[in-house]
Amino acid sequence: MENSTSTRVAVAGGTGTVGRHVLQSLADRGIETVVLTRSSGVDLLTGAGLTGVLAGVSAVVDVTSVASTSSARSRDFFGTVTRTLLEAGRAAGVRHHVALSIVGVDRGRTGHYAGKLVQERLVEDGPVPWTILRATQFHELAAQMHQALRVGPVHLAPRMRSQPVAAAEVGRRLAELALGDPAGRARELAGPHEESMLAMVRAYDRATGGRGRVVGVPLPGPLGRAMRRGDLLPGPEAELGTETFDQWLRRTSGRD
Ligand SMILES: NC(=O)c1ccc[n+]([C@@H]2O[C@H](COP(=O)([O-])OP(=O)(O)OC[C@H]3O[C@@H](n4cnc5c(N)ncnc54)[C@H](OP(=O)(O)O)[C@@H]3O)[C@@H](O)[C@H]2O)c1
Repeated sequence: MENSTSTRVAVAGGTGTVGRHVLQSLADRGIETVVLTRSSGVDLLTGAGLTGVLAGVSAVVDVTSVASTSSARSRDFFGTVTRTLLEAGRAAGVRHHVALSIVGVDRGRTGHYAGKLVQERLVEDGPVPWTILRATQFHELAAQMHQALRVGPVHLAPRMRSQPVAAAEVGRRLAELALGDPAGRARELAGPHEESMLAMVRAYDRATGGRGRVVGVPLPGPLGRAMRRGDLLPGPEAELGTETFDQWLRRTSGRD
């Protein structure tokens, strides 16, 4: 399907952690893009601003997200956004819908993962030919947790086995998938090796001049158990990215 003179790809969530890499990767190939975010005037929860924006679009990449640990809120967000995108895509003649999901989403089941499961099912049963890519946690998640999970001077990190991958590598893969034919379930994408989230957040804290007060906490419920048991690790068939967490940290904290 790749043809840089006529292909137009819409990226829902194109200003986000991974979305900006999808856009960059498409731009590097000379592909015209359309960004669907509230900051660019399109609200995918209400449908406001969506009229006409998918005209001439061949593929939609959905990398939207909601910052919530509530299963109900996550189901509501991903259900509504996915239905809105699929219906608008069908009406506009979009030929390919690409969704980013998470490795082990069916084993995590609760919180954010509850909504991702709803999204996957809607895409699979939806009116637009599709590809779903499941990726592991981004290296960037350590930075997000360092910022968000804080009690006074102490940073908290979930007890979690992960095989994190650079968001840039996920963005590149999504761009390639969007330019290819609908493929159903793509091979999982993970980073080069397993890490502990606690060690990642500690390393991030050190690299950014913190005082090293990072404490590991077990999260409750099925998602917390899945995190600790290693249920969110990739299977043996997964494609592996190349950038390690340490390399990512050196690159992004300016120590390279
Ligand atoms: N973080 C990880 O480790 C990880 C790993 C694997 C998969 N994933 C999946 O990757 C996806 C993207 O995650 P991310 O961390 O890159 O997200 P993010 O940085 O939080 O970005 C979310 C994007 O969604 C847009 N958005 C939010 N609400 C919207 C609305 N109502 N209408 C239109 N756009 C909206 C935001 O733009 P505005 O605010 O301007 O609307 C932003 O561009 C998620 O679905 C997540 O499940 C994440």
